[in-house]
Amino acid sequence: MSSTSSFHPLPSRPLTVAVLGATGAVGQELLALLTERRFPVGELRLLASPRSAGRRLVWQGRELTIEAVSAAAFEGVDVVLASAGGSISRRWAPVAAAAGAVVIDNSSAFRLDPEVPLVVPEVNPESALGHRGIIANPNCTTILLTLALAPLQARRPIRRVVVSTYQSASGAGARAMEELRKLSRTVLDGGEPVSEVLPHSLAFNLFLHNSPLQPSGYCEEELKMLYETRKIMALPELRLSATCVRVPVLRAHSEAVNIEFEQPFPVEEARTLLAEAPGVELLEDFAANRFPMPTDVTGRDPVAVGRIRQDLSDPNALELWLCGDQIRKGAALNAVQIAELLLDPAWREAAAQPVGAPSASTVGGAV
Ligand SMILES: NC(=O)c1ccc[n+]([C@@H]2O[C@H](COP(=O)([O-])OP(=O)(O)OC[C@H]3O[C@@H](n4cnc5c(N)ncnc54)[C@H](OP(=O)(O)O)[C@@H]3O)[C@@H](O)[C@H]2O)c1
Repeated sequence: MSSTSSFHPLPSRPLTVAVLGATGAVGQELLALLTERRFPVGELRLLASPRSAGRRLVWQGRELTIEAVSAAAFEGVDVVLASAGGSISRRWAPVAAAAGAVVIDNSSAFRLDPEVPLVVPEVNPESALGHRGIIANPNCTTILLTLALAPLQARRPIRRVVVSTYQSASGAGARAMEELRKLSRTVLDGGEPVSEVLPHSLAFNLFLHNSPLQPSGYCEEELKMLYETRKIMALPELRLSATCVRVPVLRAHSEAVNIEFEQPFPVEEARTLLAEAPGVELLEDFAANRFPMPTDVTGRDPVAVGRIRQDLSDPNALELWLCGDQIRKGAALNAVQIAELLLDPAWREAAAQPVGAPSASTVGGAV
């Protein structure tokens, strides 16, 4: 990739913000979060495809016109929150960064680029210090997973992770959500559901994640979980095997996670660590058999973790279940948190130090 040669913290004045992909599922959530979290927006530019150019949206009482993405649209922009897909990011993120913006990119375009930080603010905020104009937001299932793994890894090293995901329609965008609604009605009315957005009908059905299959037999989504978790957690040798499944849930992803450690990990200790971990909420009531569900986290920030238990087949392993709103924490919220990190006075101070001086404990206060 090409980008500017030095990183920059965001200035402490109202910022010019561009949302690229403003009409999409993630883009709409970004707009809501900028308001909710009182992000210091001076000017807001809404960018999408030529199909949406000229449409108007009201944001914070201001009527804004959507523009087709172009080089001119990035002039004078401080921060770009990009969620328009990998090919659009590959084309436009370097242009925006060269124009002086910091681009926080939700696509997979730059995630494994060694020059681009891949950041979950609760897990590796210090990585953002190395940015050169582009910061990548990780894959949604990976963000949710690392929030649960990081506090456990900090106590006892993880040897291997086996994870199965239950991914909602919203993970495939706004049109996939609409298709699930529509085809569910079709089935209830006795009709034959015919999918146009997803490869198969998700109505009263599920299927293995349809990202391209690799020669190993894993699909891209599963390999993203492996390689991105390794990069975020700075564990290049981590062993992780994932099976990703699309399920007929409108919004919020779930994951069944088996974590093998180097040594036994007392369940109560794991429970306490996860209850106290940033971005995590413990939601478990064994007496009532009540554990996290997608509806518990829809529209909410924390990743809900529960049913933490000893793996009866391995004295060194724990099992747990988690749910998180992947449009929110798995995409838009994580991106806004990264932008907030760049505004954090502690981070600014750390950014002014010589390379290598700051530590994770000195940054990330805004998260
Ligand atoms: N959904 C999730 O849970 C999730 C989670 C993490 C990451 N992501 C990533 O975020 C990105 C967007 O996902 P989404 O779910 O929000 O998708 P989406 O609902 O389909 O929205 C796509 C957005 O991209 C815009 N776009 C499409 N083609 C474009 C072009 N040629 N030029 C400029 N803009 C264009 C669309 O604008 P128009 O309306 O004009 O077509 C729309 O605003 C993807 O890279 C996805 O992998 C999504």
